[in-house]
Amino acid sequence: MTVSFPPGFLWGTATAAYQIEGAVGEGGRTPSIWDTFSHTPGKVENGDTGDVAVDHFHRRADDVRLMSELGVNAYRFSVSWPRVQPTGRGPAVQRGLDFYRALVDDLLDHGITPVLTLYHWDLPQELETAGGWPERDTAHRFADYARIVADALGDRVERWTTLNEPWCSAFLGYASGVHAPGRTEPVAALRAAHHLNLAHGLAAQTLRTALPARGQVSVSVNPSAVRARTDSEADLDARRRIDALANRVFTDPMLHGTYPADLLTDTEHLTDWSFVHADDLAVIRHPLDSLGINYYSPTVVSAATDSDGPRERKDGHGPAPHSPWPGADAVVFHRAPGDVTDMGWPVDPTGLHELLMRYTREAPRLPLVITENGAAYPDKPGADGTVHDPERIRYLHGHLSAVHRAMADGADVRGYFLWSLLDNFEWAYGYGKRFGAVYVDYDTQDRVPKSSARWYGELARTGVLPGC
Ligand code: FCB
Repeated sequence: MTVSFPPGFLWGTATAAYQIEGAVGEGGRTPSIWDTFSHTPGKVENGDTGDVAVDHFHRRADDVRLMSELGVNAYRFSVSWPRVQPTGRGPAVQRGLDFYRALVDDLLDHGITPVLTLYHWDLPQELETAGGWPERDTAHRFADYARIVADALGDRVERWTTLNEPWCSAFLGYASGVHAPGRTEPVAALRAAHHLNLAHGLAAQTLRTALPARGQVSVSVNPSAVRARTDSEADLDARRRIDALANRVFTDPMLHGTYPADLLTDTEHLTDWSFVHADDLAVIRHPLDSLGINYYSPTVVSAATDSDGPRERKDGHGPAPHSPWPGADAVVFHRAPGDVTDMGWPVDPTGLHELLMRYTREAPRLPLVITENGAAYPDKPGADGTVHDPERIRYLHGHLSAVHRAMADGADVRGYFLWSLLDNFEWAYGYGKRFGAVYVDYDTQDRVPKSSARWYGELARTGVLPGC
């Protein structure tokens, strides 16, 4: 069945600074935790780093032209904190800000709406050396940085996002250690989660005062569509625990100004949560203009039984000998049924529908935006140089049908951002996983739009999702 999306719907692609920019030593930029981590042997597959990435820092103008040719009307990018405020403290570096100003101007010249994310995981290394997200001061440093960027770009960027996927920053960065800074300290991860929430709230307040009235403030979370393997009491309790640690630890304070009581109980043997100060929750619950949802795949859990043997601690983001789930050691993760992408992530659009309906119920007047969705496949150019990726088209079609269904069921969805514009540095997986709608030849930096890019561009131009 052919379906149509409303006029004004944002059709975008998304990227993140460290995954595409390269130019890590230029213009006064200092290292972020991802520079340190990727240069530490054994942390990233193949020893890959973001030193060059896809050289977007130098190819910015061409990349914007490419987006315009494809036909998308929005672009979600992130600002590299150490590029605009080296070391994470003190004055801004004008050359860093100039890069983003030029990017935004190019986008606006092409009629593409910029959607700016302040933090997509590249904490200035100096702030990590001072303790990182487990320390409260990092949240205040983030609000200062938000002010710098808002003062520089608030006249031309309307859509602002504080954090990208705080779950990954807190729990992959500080508990499982598969992401930078690679620490494996469960209590530090819980502290990091709270300070990321606080950073979000403080930055949201700062943006409100620094931006013109039309400025819109959002955050992008990666909620998990958690399913219990059976409806036994034990499996349902496993689901409840993971729902608390994956989802409610962020969305409860952000949307409702509370921490889930069950989470505090589940983790009381680890911490008394006294790092949450009296007024923090009121700061974190700052009214938002939209909620960004990043979705790739559902999660299936059960309670451990004696026959489970040594537990596989899967988090879908790399091998994890340490659990990213503090206090949930008795939960076992299973692969959901169905086809998987090159990440090994099951393809299941029903999880996206489920999440859109969940947040529609939880925050009825809050518009939703899908700020990331997409799939990695082992794409290669054919003999004629073109790149065909029918699996990605199928993936996108399935997920966009789910979005449309959610809208028909009452979800107020305002936009969709395909992850990603370009093949890029996929964190701990390095360059081995290709998420781009546009293929990148990493030797020459040539860009070749895959068939999915053409397909998506047509959809963006017409708003019509053909039947499949
Ligand atoms: C998300 C990240 C994004 C990208 C995709 C595949 O978790 O936000 O940077 O790595 O996964």
